[in-house]
Amino acid sequence: MVQAKKQLTEPETPAIFDLNNYLKQQQIIVEQALDQSIAIARPEKIYEAMRYSLLAGGKRLRPILCLATCDLMGGTQAMAMPTACALEMIHTMSLIHDDLPAMDNDDFRRGKPTNHKVYGDDIAILAGDGLLAYAFEYVATQTNNVAPENIIRVVAALGHTVGAAGLVGGQVLDLESEGKLDITAETLSFIHTHKTGALLEASVVCGAILANAESEDIARLSRYAQNIGLAFQIIDDILDITATDEQLGKTAGKDLQAQKATYPSLWGLEKSRLKAQELVDSAIAELSNYGIQAEPLRAIANYIVTRDR
Ligand code: FPP
Ligand code: MG
Repeated sequence: MVQAKKQLTEPETPAIFDLNNYLKQQQIIVEQALDQSIAIARPEKIYEAMRYSLLAGGKRLRPILCLATCDLMGGTQAMAMPTACALEMIHTMSLIHDDLPAMDNDDFRRGKPTNHKVYGDDIAILAGDGLLAYAFEYVATQTNNVAPENIIRVVAALGHTVGAAGLVGGQVLDLESEGKLDITAETLSFIHTHKTGALLEASVVCGAILANAESEDIARLSRYAQNIGLAFQIIDDILDITATDEQLGKTAGKDLQAQKATYPSLWGLEKSRLKAQELVDSAIAELSNYGIQAEPLRAIANYIVTRDR
Protein backbone atom coordinates (compact mmCIF):
# COMPACT_ATOMS: atom_id res chain seq x y z
CA MET A 1 0.00 0.00 0.00
CA VAL A 2 1.27 3.47 -0.83
CA GLN A 3 1.26 5.71 2.23
CA ALA A 4 -0.62 9.02 2.13
CA LYS A 5 1.63 12.07 2.28
CA LYS A 6 1.64 14.17 5.46
CA GLN A 7 -0.44 17.34 5.60
CA LEU A 8 1.72 20.34 4.72
CA THR A 9 -0.28 22.80 6.83
CA GLU A 10 1.11 22.09 10.34
CA PRO A 11 4.54 23.69 10.84
CA GLU A 12 6.69 21.18 12.73
CA THR A 13 9.80 23.34 12.81
CA PRO A 14 10.33 25.69 15.77
CA ALA A 15 10.42 29.43 15.00
CA ILE A 16 14.16 29.68 15.69
CA PHE A 17 15.75 26.78 13.92
CA ASP A 18 18.63 25.18 15.84
CA LEU A 19 20.81 23.72 13.08
CA ASN A 20 23.44 22.22 15.38
CA ASN A 21 20.81 20.32 17.30
CA TYR A 22 19.05 19.26 14.09
CA LEU A 23 22.27 18.00 12.49
CA LYS A 24 23.26 16.13 15.65
CA GLN A 25 19.86 14.44 15.90
CA GLN A 26 19.76 13.54 12.22
CA GLN A 27 23.35 12.25 12.33
CA ILE A 28 22.41 9.89 15.21
CA ILE A 29 19.38 8.58 13.29
CA VAL A 30 21.44 8.09 10.12
CA GLU A 31 24.32 6.38 12.00
CA GLN A 32 21.85 3.88 13.49
CA ALA A 33 20.27 3.17 10.12
CA LEU A 34 23.69 2.71 8.47
CA ASP A 35 24.85 0.40 11.26
CA GLN A 36 21.77 -1.78 10.71
CA SER A 37 22.02 -1.69 6.92
CA ILE A 38 24.92 -4.15 6.52
CA ALA A 39 25.38 -7.24 8.71
CA ILE A 40 28.62 -9.21 8.79
CA ALA A 41 28.34 -12.43 6.76
CA ARG A 42 30.75 -14.78 5.03
CA PRO A 43 33.39 -13.86 3.86
CA GLU A 44 33.71 -11.62 6.94
CA LYS A 45 36.64 -9.62 5.61
CA ILE A 46 34.70 -7.88 2.85
CA TYR A 47 31.77 -6.98 5.13
CA GLU A 48 34.22 -5.66 7.72
CA ALA A 49 35.97 -3.55 5.06
CA MET A 50 32.62 -2.16 3.83
CA ARG A 51 31.49 -1.37 7.39
CA TYR A 52 34.91 0.10 8.30
CA SER A 53 34.51 2.99 5.86
CA LEU A 54 30.72 3.28 5.96
CA LEU A 55 30.70 3.69 9.76
CA ALA A 56 33.80 5.88 10.04
CA GLY A 57 31.76 9.01 10.76
CA GLY A 58 31.45 11.97 8.44
CA LYS A 59 28.97 14.80 8.14
CA ARG A 60 26.24 12.56 6.64
CA LEU A 61 25.17 15.56 4.58
CA ARG A 62 23.76 13.55 1.68
CA PRO A 63 21.41 11.37 3.78
CA ILE A 64 20.36 14.39 5.83
CA LEU A 65 19.55 16.37 2.66
CA CYS A 66 17.51 13.44 1.32
CA LEU A 67 15.52 13.07 4.56
CA ALA A 68 14.96 16.84 4.86
CA THR A 69 13.72 17.16 1.27
CA CYS A 70 11.36 14.19 1.56
CA ASP A 71 10.01 15.73 4.77
CA LEU A 72 9.60 19.16 3.11
CA MET A 73 7.64 17.60 0.25
CA GLY A 74 5.25 15.88 2.66
CA GLY A 75 6.88 12.45 2.87
CA THR A 76 8.20 10.69 5.97
CA GLN A 77 11.74 9.86 7.13
CA ALA A 78 10.91 6.15 6.88
CA MET A 79 10.07 6.49 3.17
CA ALA A 80 13.48 8.09 2.48
CA MET A 81 15.77 6.19 4.88
CA PRO A 82 16.84 3.33 2.53
CA THR A 83 17.74 5.89 -0.16
CA ALA A 84 19.47 8.07 2.44
CA CYS A 85 21.64 5.07 3.44
CA ALA A 86 22.27 4.20 -0.23
CA LEU A 87 23.52 7.75 -0.89
CA GLU A 88 26.03 7.39 1.94
CA MET A 89 27.09 3.94 0.63
CA ILE A 90 27.73 5.48 -2.80
CA HIS A 91 29.56 8.49 -1.33
CA THR A 92 31.70 6.19 0.84
CA MET A 93 32.61 3.90 -2.05
CA SER A 94 33.63 6.89 -4.17
CA LEU A 95 35.96 8.02 -1.37
CA ILE A 96 37.45 4.52 -0.93
CA HIS A 97 38.27 4.43 -4.66
CA ASP A 98 39.38 8.09 -4.73
CA ASP A 99 41.92 7.36 -1.97
CA LEU A 100 43.51 4.38 -3.78
CA PRO A 101 47.15 4.65 -4.95
CA ALA A 102 45.93 4.65 -8.58
CA MET A 103 43.88 7.77 -7.86
CA ASP A 104 44.71 10.31 -5.12
CA ASN A 105 46.84 7.95 -2.99
CA ASP A 106 45.63 9.20 0.38
CA ASP A 107 46.46 7.66 3.77
CA PHE A 108 43.75 9.22 5.94
CA ARG A 109 40.01 9.67 5.61
CA ARG A 110 37.50 10.67 8.26
CA GLY A 111 40.30 10.70 10.82
CA LYS A 112 41.24 7.06 10.22
CA PRO A 113 43.66 5.18 7.92
CA THR A 114 42.10 4.80 4.48
CA ASN A 115 40.44 1.52 3.53
CA HIS A 116 43.34 0.25 1.39
CA LYS A 117 45.83 1.08 4.16
CA VAL A 118 43.94 -1.31 6.47
CA TYR A 119 42.67 -4.00 4.09
CA GLY A 120 44.97 -3.71 1.04
CA ASP A 121 44.20 -2.38 -2.45
CA ASP A 122 42.44 -5.56 -3.61
CA ILE A 123 39.91 -5.64 -0.76
CA ALA A 124 39.44 -1.84 -0.86
CA ILE A 125 38.46 -2.01 -4.55
CA LEU A 126 36.05 -4.83 -3.77
CA ALA A 127 34.65 -3.05 -0.68
CA GLY A 128 33.83 -0.10 -2.96
CA ASP A 129 32.21 -2.41 -5.51
CA GLY A 130 30.28 -4.19 -2.76
CA LEU A 131 28.95 -0.91 -1.36
CA LEU A 132 27.95 0.37 -4.79
CA ALA A 133 26.01 -2.77 -5.71
CA TYR A 134 24.41 -3.00 -2.28
CA ALA A 135 23.23 0.64 -2.47
CA PHE A 136 20.95 -0.24 -5.40
CA GLU A 137 19.79 -3.52 -3.83
CA TYR A 138 19.02 -1.65 -0.63
CA VAL A 139 16.81 0.98 -2.29
CA ALA A 140 14.98 -1.63 -4.37
CA THR A 141 14.33 -4.08 -1.52
CA GLN A 142 13.97 -1.88 1.58
CA THR A 143 11.86 1.07 0.41
CA ASN A 144 8.31 0.82 1.74
CA ASN A 145 5.17 2.91 1.32
CA VAL A 146 6.44 4.50 -1.90
CA ALA A 147 4.83 3.91 -5.32
CA PRO A 148 6.95 1.38 -7.30
CA GLU A 149 7.33 3.83 -10.21
CA ASN A 150 8.93 6.35 -7.85
CA ILE A 151 11.35 3.71 -6.53
CA ILE A 152 12.34 3.01 -10.16
CA ARG A 153 12.83 6.76 -10.76
CA VAL A 154 15.15 6.89 -7.72
CA VAL A 155 17.17 3.88 -8.93
CA ALA A 156 17.50 5.50 -12.38
CA ALA A 157 18.53 8.86 -10.88
CA LEU A 158 21.19 7.17 -8.73
CA GLY A 159 22.53 5.18 -11.69
CA HIS A 160 22.79 8.34 -13.80
CA THR A 161 24.51 10.16 -10.94
CA VAL A 162 27.26 7.61 -10.28
CA GLY A 163 28.06 6.74 -13.90
CA ALA A 164 30.03 8.47 -16.66
CA ALA A 165 27.38 11.24 -16.76
CA GLY A 166 28.12 12.02 -13.09
CA LEU A 167 30.75 11.01 -10.53
CA VAL A 168 32.80 8.79 -12.84
CA GLY A 169 32.92 11.44 -15.58
CA GLY A 170 33.86 14.17 -13.09
CA GLN A 171 36.60 12.01 -11.59
CA VAL A 172 38.08 11.25 -15.04
CA LEU A 173 38.34 14.94 -15.92
CA ASP A 174 39.73 15.62 -12.43
CA LEU A 175 42.50 13.05 -12.99
CA GLU A 176 43.21 14.40 -16.47
CA SER A 177 43.51 17.93 -15.09
CA GLU A 178 46.18 17.11 -12.50
CA GLY A 179 49.32 19.16 -13.03
CA LYS A 180 47.45 21.57 -15.34
CA LEU A 181 47.09 24.77 -13.36
CA ASP A 182 45.84 26.64 -16.44
CA ILE A 183 42.46 24.89 -16.81
CA THR A 184 39.47 27.18 -17.33
CA ALA A 185 36.72 28.03 -14.85
CA GLU A 186 34.35 26.17 -17.19
CA THR A 187 36.37 22.92 -16.95
CA LEU A 188 36.68 23.31 -13.20
CA SER A 189 32.94 23.80 -12.93
CA PHE A 190 32.36 20.65 -15.06
CA ILE A 191 34.61 18.62 -12.74
CA HIS A 192 32.89 19.82 -9.60
CA THR A 193 29.30 19.69 -10.79
CA HIS A 194 29.90 16.06 -11.80
CA LYS A 195 32.29 14.78 -9.12
CA THR A 196 30.61 16.43 -6.12
CA GLY A 197 27.50 18.34 -7.20
CA ALA A 198 25.75 15.41 -8.90
CA LEU A 199 25.42 13.29 -5.74
CA LEU A 200 24.31 16.26 -3.63
CA GLU A 201 21.69 17.06 -6.30
CA ALA A 202 20.57 13.41 -6.39
CA SER A 203 20.21 13.47 -2.59
CA VAL A 204 17.70 16.30 -2.82
CA VAL A 205 15.94 15.12 -5.99
CA CYS A 206 15.53 11.55 -4.70
CA GLY A 207 14.07 12.84 -1.43
CA ALA A 208 11.53 14.82 -3.45
CA ILE A 209 10.70 11.91 -5.79
CA LEU A 210 10.10 9.57 -2.82
CA ALA A 211 7.56 12.09 -1.46
CA ASN A 212 5.90 12.15 -4.91
CA ALA A 213 6.70 15.86 -5.38
CA GLU A 214 5.42 17.82 -8.40
CA SER A 215 7.86 18.41 -11.28
CA GLU A 216 8.03 22.20 -10.57
CA ASP A 217 9.11 21.48 -7.00
CA ILE A 218 11.71 18.96 -8.20
CA ALA A 219 13.09 21.53 -10.68
CA ARG A 220 13.29 24.22 -7.98
CA LEU A 221 14.93 21.86 -5.49
CA SER A 222 17.39 20.71 -8.17
CA ARG A 223 18.49 24.32 -8.66
CA TYR A 224 18.85 24.71 -4.86
CA ALA A 225 21.05 21.60 -4.83
CA GLN A 226 23.17 22.62 -7.84
CA ASN A 227 23.97 25.91 -6.10
CA ILE A 228 24.86 24.33 -2.75
CA GLY A 229 26.85 21.63 -4.57
CA LEU A 230 29.18 24.14 -6.20
CA ALA A 231 29.40 26.21 -2.99
CA PHE A 232 30.31 23.00 -1.11
CA GLN A 233 33.21 22.32 -3.47
CA ILE A 234 34.49 25.92 -3.36
CA ILE A 235 34.58 25.70 0.44
CA ASP A 236 36.30 22.30 0.17
CA ASP A 237 39.01 23.90 -1.97
CA ILE A 238 39.38 26.75 0.54
CA LEU A 239 39.57 24.36 3.52
CA ASP A 240 42.23 22.31 1.74
CA ILE A 241 44.41 25.44 2.03
CA THR A 242 43.27 26.91 5.36
CA ALA A 243 42.35 23.93 7.59
CA THR A 244 44.50 21.40 9.44
CA ASP A 245 44.70 17.61 8.96
CA GLU A 246 43.00 17.19 12.37
CA GLN A 247 40.10 19.46 11.41
CA LEU A 248 39.54 17.69 8.07
CA GLY A 249 40.29 14.12 9.19
CA LYS A 250 42.38 13.80 6.00
CA THR A 251 45.62 15.23 4.64
CA ALA A 252 45.26 18.97 4.04
CA GLY A 253 47.15 20.79 1.27
CA LYS A 254 46.73 17.93 -1.21
CA ASP A 255 45.47 20.15 -4.05
CA LEU A 256 48.63 22.26 -4.09
CA GLN A 257 50.78 19.14 -3.78
CA ALA A 258 49.02 17.45 -6.73
CA GLN A 259 49.03 20.75 -8.67
CA LYS A 260 45.27 20.68 -8.99
CA ALA A 261 43.52 23.76 -10.29
CA THR A 262 40.98 24.89 -7.69
CA TYR A 263 38.71 27.90 -7.20
CA PRO A 264 41.20 29.62 -4.87
CA SER A 265 43.98 29.03 -7.45
CA LEU A 266 41.79 30.63 -10.14
CA TRP A 267 40.20 33.45 -8.14
CA GLY A 268 42.08 33.76 -4.82
CA LEU A 269 40.62 32.99 -1.37
CA GLU A 270 38.54 36.13 -0.93
CA LYS A 271 36.75 36.01 -4.29
CA SER A 272 36.18 32.26 -3.82
CA ARG A 273 34.48 32.92 -0.46
CA LEU A 274 32.27 35.62 -2.01
CA LYS A 275 31.32 33.31 -4.88
CA ALA A 276 30.38 30.52 -2.43
CA GLN A 277 28.20 32.97 -0.46
CA GLU A 278 26.49 34.15 -3.69
CA LEU A 279 25.71 30.54 -4.60
CA VAL A 280 24.24 29.88 -1.15
CA ASP A 281 22.10 33.04 -1.43
CA SER A 282 20.81 31.82 -4.82
CA ALA A 283 20.10 28.38 -3.33
CA ILE A 284 18.09 29.91 -0.49
CA ALA A 285 16.18 32.12 -2.97
CA GLU A 286 14.93 28.93 -4.67
CA LEU A 287 13.17 27.99 -1.40
CA SER A 288 11.11 31.19 -1.15
CA ASN A 289 7.84 29.30 -1.85
CA TYR A 290 8.13 26.99 1.13
CA GLY A 291 7.93 28.96 4.40
CA ILE A 292 9.15 27.69 7.74
CA GLN A 293 9.20 24.02 6.76
CA ALA A 294 12.18 24.68 4.49
CA GLU A 295 14.30 25.94 7.42
CA PRO A 296 16.42 22.74 7.53
CA LEU A 297 17.36 23.17 3.84
CA ARG A 298 18.09 26.90 4.35
CA ALA A 299 20.20 26.16 7.42
CA ILE A 300 22.11 23.38 5.61
CA ALA A 301 22.88 25.85 2.78
CA ASN A 302 24.27 28.34 5.31
CA TYR A 303 26.23 25.58 7.07
CA ILE A 304 27.95 24.75 3.78
CA VAL A 305 29.70 28.14 3.69
CA THR A 306 30.39 28.42 7.41
CA ARG A 307 31.68 24.88 8.05
CA ASP A 308 35.28 24.39 9.15
CA ARG A 309 35.70 20.71 8.24
C1 FPP B 1 36.83 13.29 -3.57
O1 FPP B 1 37.32 14.41 -4.25
C2 FPP B 1 36.21 12.33 -4.54
C3 FPP B 1 34.95 12.39 -5.00
C4 FPP B 1 34.00 13.43 -4.55
C5 FPP B 1 34.39 11.39 -5.97
C6 FPP B 1 35.39 10.54 -6.67
C7 FPP B 1 34.71 9.64 -7.65
C8 FPP B 1 35.17 8.43 -7.97
C9 FPP B 1 36.41 7.82 -7.41
C10 FPP B 1 34.40 7.58 -8.92
C11 FPP B 1 33.77 6.52 -8.06
C12 FPP B 1 33.08 5.49 -8.81
C13 FPP B 1 31.74 5.31 -8.81
C14 FPP B 1 31.19 4.17 -9.57
C15 FPP B 1 30.81 6.22 -8.10
P1 FPP B 1 38.71 15.09 -3.85
O2 FPP B 1 39.81 14.14 -4.15
O3 FPP B 1 38.74 16.42 -4.50
O4 FPP B 1 38.52 15.32 -2.29
P2 FPP B 1 39.27 14.67 -1.06
O5 FPP B 1 40.30 15.67 -0.64
O6 FPP B 1 38.20 14.51 -0.01
O7 FPP B 1 39.87 13.37 -1.48
MG1 MG C 1 40.93 12.83 -3.09
